[in-house]
Amino acid sequence: MYKFFFNLVFRRMDPEKAHHLAFRWIRLAASIPLLRTLVAAVLAPRDPALRVRALGHEMPGPFGLAAGFDKNAVGIDGLAMLGFDHVEIGTVTAQPQPGNPQPRLFRLVEDRALINRMGFNNEGSAAVAARLAARRRTATVVGVNIGKTKVVPEAEAVGDYVTSTERLARHADYFVVNVSSPNTPGLRNLQAVDQLRPLLSAVRETLDAHTSTHVPLLVKIAPDLADDDIDAVADLALELRLDGIIATNTTIGREGLLTDRAKVDAIGAGGLSGAPLKARSLDVLKRLHARTGGQLTLVSVGGVETAQDVWERILAGASLVQGYSAFIYEGPFWCRKIHKGLSARLRNAGYRSLAEAVGVTAPH
Ligand SMILES: Cc1cc2nc3c(=O)[nH]c(=O)nc-3n(C[C@H](O)[C@H](O)[C@H](O)COP(=O)(O)O)c2cc1C
Repeated sequence: MYKFFFNLVFRRMDPEKAHHLAFRWIRLAASIPLLRTLVAAVLAPRDPALRVRALGHEMPGPFGLAAGFDKNAVGIDGLAMLGFDHVEIGTVTAQPQPGNPQPRLFRLVEDRALINRMGFNNEGSAAVAARLAARRRTATVVGVNIGKTKVVPEAEAVGDYVTSTERLARHADYFVVNVSSPNTPGLRNLQAVDQLRPLLSAVRETLDAHTSTHVPLLVKIAPDLADDDIDAVADLALELRLDGIIATNTTIGREGLLTDRAKVDAIGAGGLSGAPLKARSLDVLKRLHARTGGQLTLVSVGGVETAQDVWERILAGASLVQGYSAFIYEGPFWCRKIHKGLSARLRNAGYRSLAEAVGVTAPH
């Protein structure tokens, strides 16, 4: 039914406009208490075997919404209503910024993929912190993902991230340093260990200075890193006692697409997400798991579409899994389908909880 609606309505609209329209509907539904309760009763996970404890928090399941959908933290309750087990807001930057000129979001329907060059359009960390402070806290785990303001030079990146951390620390259930978006010039250079060490250390210190509890800190990396660089980030995360790694962001690669090459070229620069990212994202997860041996919480994201995809990530060592692009193609019943499929797989495999399945197929 959603696919029919998608083809009839959303597919004919500009993708960014369709996003805003769909998100408005989600928020509207969630603002009506009875409707919210009803929708959540149908869509939210109920199987206690799917409950996970990760990053110091209890969650109804392992499957969350990746960063970029709710950049300004305006729709957390609506997204939880649809069955996401956690919601990562952002990327938020220290200064408000408009992002890149439109159009900047494109669908590759044949590939079940998206290309975006949004460029961290967001209201800035002061506004987002104020919104989160005013929000009634619920059981939904909220991750806060921060990035660098475009106009701030790379050499001053640490100060920019620290400013956002000061403002947002108290409102985050976990915190993510995003150094992997391809749409802010120079950002991905911060993944080099000699740049990343001072950045992550400063954010960690700032989190500790502004909160009395431990706010878990994770770094989000690109799928385009060379394998040695993935190992280097993993080693650094262990050295700095980070809580976890989120892998991966979108890719600048364009290999293996079904969509006509001329159409892809005409779209131009941006990060590719969705099904074509699946294999690389899983490889990066396996590499991280092998390198860190269960000492870090691994959050796997990239090309996740089905319960089987989520299950494979869990078996390969992910404690949490996220998705974004397939939400556009699958619609509001996506989380429900994933949770049902996960429950079945868990039972078939004879596990009593998801925690028992994390990393079991990974080579040791
Ligand atoms: C339109 C769009 C905007 C995104 N914005 C962000 C962002 O602001 N910060 C971030 O860390 N990742 C962002 N991402 C990346 C996603 O969080 C995710 O890592 C990536 O899309 C791979 O997952 P997927 O294949 O399930 O979409 C964005 C992705 C899309 C499609």
